[in-house]
Amino acid sequence: MAKNKLKRFREINSFPNVIQPQDKYPVSDYFLKGNWSAGHFGNSFPIILELGCGKGEYALELARTSPEKNFIGIDIKGERLWKGAKTALEEGLTNLAFLRIQAERINHFFGPDEVSGIWLTFPDPQPRKPRRKKRLTSPAFLDRYQRILVKGSPIHLKTDNKDLFEYTLEVVRENNHKLLTYTDDLYNKGTNINEPLVKEIQTYYEKIYLSQNLPIHYLKFLLNT
Ligand SMILES: C[S@@+](CC[C@H](N)C(=O)[O-])C[C@H]1O[C@@H](n2cnc3c(N)ncnc32)[C@H](O)[C@@H]1O
Repeated sequence: MAKNKLKRFREINSFPNVIQPQDKYPVSDYFLKGNWSAGHFGNSFPIILELGCGKGEYALELARTSPEKNFIGIDIKGERLWKGAKTALEEGLTNLAFLRIQAERINHFFGPDEVSGIWLTFPDPQPRKPRRKKRLTSPAFLDRYQRILVKGSPIHLKTDNKDLFEYTLEVVRENNHKLLTYTDDLYNKGTNINEPLVKEIQTYYEKIYLSQNLPIHYLKFLLNT
C-alpha cells in the first residue's frame, strides 16, 4: 500500500469526526441509532445525509452554510473520507461527521424520523442490469430511506449519468413519489431550479464531468408516504 495511503488510514482512526464501526456487516443496531443529534452532535438539529459522499465536498459546504443543521457524509472508502474529515477538523465544523459504512446497512444506523434530507451526489450508476438493485435510487434503497426519513423530507440526486437519471425519474413516477423539480442539464438549462447551492457546490467527480462538457442532471423528489 502506498505510504501516503497508509498514513491516512492511521490518521483517520484518530479523527473524532469519523465513525468507522468495526462490524462491517452488523446484525444489530449501532448504539447511536435514533440518537445521533444528541448523542454525537450534542444538539437537537435535524440531520441531513450525503450518501456516497467521497471526499465530502457537498457535506462540507452544506455544513458551512447551514450551522443549524447536522450533516453526515457516508461512504465506504476511508481514504476518500479522510479528505473531507481533515478539512472539517481544520475548519472547526462541529455539525459535520463522516460515517464509513455500506449504504445498504443504513437502517442499522438511523431510526424512524431521524433524517431530514438525503443528497445522492454522483452515485455509481451500476449500468449492468443485475446490479440495478444496487443503485442508490432503486426501489429497495427508497424503501430503506422511507424507514429513516421524516415525512416530507427531500431526496436530491445529482448525476452525469443519463441512464441513472432516466431510471430514477421512472422509479419516482411508477411508485407515485412526488417529483418536485428536475433538469437534464443543470448549468445550461436549469433556470427553473431554485434549490439553494445546487449550482454553487461542485464535487470532485462533478468537476471532472464538467471539464469533459458533460451535462449534469438533477432531480428532487419526496417519497409518497
Ligand atoms: C462516483 S463516486 C462520487 C463521490 C462524490 N460524491 C463525488 O461526487 O465526488 C461514488 C462514491 O460512492 C461510494 N459508494 C459506492 N457504493 C457505495 C455504497 N454501497 N455504500 C457507500 N458508499 C458507496 C464510492 O466509494 C465512491 O466514493
